[in-house]
Amino acid sequence: MSIIKLLNKKLERTIFTTPSHNQKAFFSQNYESFYKNDFSEIEGFDNLSCPKSSILMAQGKVSDILDTKHTFFITQGSTTAILAAMKALISPGDKVLVARNCHKSVFNGLILTAGYVDWFMPEVDKEWGIYTKIDIKKLNSTLELNDYKAFIMTSPTYEGVNSDIKKISEICKRNDTYLIVDEAHGSLYNFSDELPDSAINQGADVSINSLHKTAGALNQTAILNINKNIRNIDTNLFQKAINIFQTTSPSYPLLANIEACITYLNSKNGKDEIKNLILEIEKTKKELKRFGVEFYEDENHDPTKLFLKKEGISGYDLSDSMYDEFKIEDELNNSIGCLYLCGIGTTKQKLEKLKNALKKVRTNPSFEPITAEFQPFPLVKIQPVDTFNRNFIFINKEDSLLKISNKMLLPYPPGIGILYPGEAIQKWHLDYLNNNVEVII
Ligand SMILES: Cc1ncc(COP(=O)(O)O)c(C=O)c1O
Repeated sequence: MSIIKLLNKKLERTIFTTPSHNQKAFFSQNYESFYKNDFSEIEGFDNLSCPKSSILMAQGKVSDILDTKHTFFITQGSTTAILAAMKALISPGDKVLVARNCHKSVFNGLILTAGYVDWFMPEVDKEWGIYTKIDIKKLNSTLELNDYKAFIMTSPTYEGVNSDIKKISEICKRNDTYLIVDEAHGSLYNFSDELPDSAINQGADVSINSLHKTAGALNQTAILNINKNIRNIDTNLFQKAINIFQTTSPSYPLLANIEACITYLNSKNGKDEIKNLILEIEKTKKELKRFGVEFYEDENHDPTKLFLKKEGISGYDLSDSMYDEFKIEDELNNSIGCLYLCGIGTTKQKLEKLKNALKKVRTNPSFEPITAEFQPFPLVKIQPVDTFNRNFIFINKEDSLLKISNKMLLPYPPGIGILYPGEAIQKWHLDYLNNNVEVII
């Protein structure tokens, strides 16, 4: 089916996925259609790669709201913001520590910057099959023993787990390491006391938000935030880095959407909307807990991310049944549970549907819960920068053990690599590989 036909068809299901606006203009924006507002940098319209008037003012307004040194508008998603942040801070040969649950764009950033990676394994929760926080003591000793230019991590995780960024930023500063926090899934944090504090407020040098994921803006809208206290770097370097990756024809509707989104979130209406959303989610959770539904929660969890499991059914089967029987689609699932993202556009009616379906979904009393297996520590044989454009051959899976992968093995979502190019194939990976394995020669 053509894209045009696809979009003209009525969607016969309820989606708890990104983007978060529920396919409705969520905040008022002074444009009626993309066409009416689609301009290039004509006279008086400013220039995103060197902003001097309206774009500079809009970025300044958002920067004041978020209390940053500078906030850059990005029209190509957090992916581009991550690449630009890495380019600004990492030079060829710099050692970089990267949390293994980072999005694949970080690996691509390592190829582009020629930074040398050491991977850092976050804590795991086997009962839920997810990565959780960064262990502070382990990070401290890793940073003290090595000389890293930057530490790159994700917080919150897809499932809403937040690490202690305040402590992590103190450790990073003490060790003269820049802290880049991929906060793609945490764009609402500045606008509610009931949500965790933002990474920038807690001392991260740089943070990245995807406004489409939770904050009701259109796909591809993102911001790159620089901390007021960042050390030894000229902010212009970030602009220079952004200009390498960002289009020279940015979409004005998207730029206006970023401005409108943050302005709305910062208004009384926006803050009330988040408050009501959290209230409705809490009510939904309370009721569902009486029906054998368990939610992932911890002391600093983002409540807008419903990662849940139900007694008597695996995560995979729950996902299938919710879709087949109730036409409800989750963002992602694993052997244990399903993730229903409740961004700012999640209505009471949508939550009601989810609740009713989860109550009714059929389960099996003899079902035995499974614990999840996690990937082993990666064995990096060739640094990311040296993996691009290598000669490779296809071999049988049985012969691939300890050979060097030329492929990214990456379930999407969440977009976290379980094997990257340049890493040795370990026994654990074999179950995930197809018969023909691409290995570097
Ligand atoms: C943690 C994380 N960071 C970055 C990205 C990339 O964001 P975007 O789609 O806005 O480019 C994603 C996308 O799923 C993500 O989950």
